[in-house]
Amino acid sequence: MLCRLYTPQDFAALYAIEERCFEPLFRFGRRTMRQFVSRSNAATWLAEEDGELKGFAMVEWTEHKLRLCGGGPSPQGYKSGVPGSEPLPQGFKGGVPGDGSSLPGCKSRVTAYIQTIEVAPEARGRGVGRALLGHIENSALAAGAVRIRLHVDAENAGAIRLYEAQGYRCQGRQENYYPLSRAALIYLKRLDCGRES
Ligand SMILES: CC(C)(COP(=O)(O)OP(=O)(O)OC[C@H]1O[C@@H](n2cnc3c(N)ncnc32)[C@H](O)[C@@H]1OP(=O)(O)O)[C@@H](O)C(=O)NCCC(=O)NCCS
Repeated sequence: MLCRLYTPQDFAALYAIEERCFEPLFRFGRRTMRQFVSRSNAATWLAEEDGELKGFAMVEWTEHKLRLCGGGPSPQGYKSGVPGSEPLPQGFKGGVPGDGSSLPGCKSRVTAYIQTIEVAPEARGRGVGRALLGHIENSALAAGAVRIRLHVDAENAGAIRLYEAQGYRCQGRQENYYPLSRAALIYLKRLDCGRES
């Protein structure tokens, strides 16, 4: 199994995996998927076997400015839009985030968000999902992320097992997050070994 970063030539094969993993109602549309893979503040990793795509995973990261003192408003939280998607805060330019030192009284924190992780049915149960998860976590770390979050269908026992086995902890539940009124669980993993609160 070879893992590598996405290139634009991979789109058709990547979307074919999306179609095999999710029923139409639960799929990302092609346009949304194209947006995900082309964001500068994101990474898409692919898993290949004998030259054939067997799975992929997508992560993106966002820089938040944190006010250190002065009693101002707390950093804006995420809102969910497209299922599983995280709109970027206004003014975020993408790229590797800075340290926020240009703003007096502020520091920055980078949070990563897993858009999806998908493995072709015939390749499941062989560690492909776990390997892809490791690669997107490393991309998030390299971008300066201190924590990584995701939404997962509360009924998706396999994915939940994968995330929990890799150190993700459930932080909450969001009702009606997915179509058909399905609930999402929100999972989080610290990537910074407890250096920051
Ligand atoms: C969830 C998914 C990505 C897992 O990929 P995978 O390659 O089968 O996972 P791995 O083989 O790397 O499994 C790693 C661990 O996850 C857990 N796990 C994965 N699939 C599981 C399943 N169906 N049932 C129980 N545990 C499962 C196990 O703990 C496993 O560790 P183990 O092999 O030591 O027992 C895959 O099932 C998939 O693509 N599902 C459809 C798409 C989807 O729902 N994606 C999640 C979006 S949030």
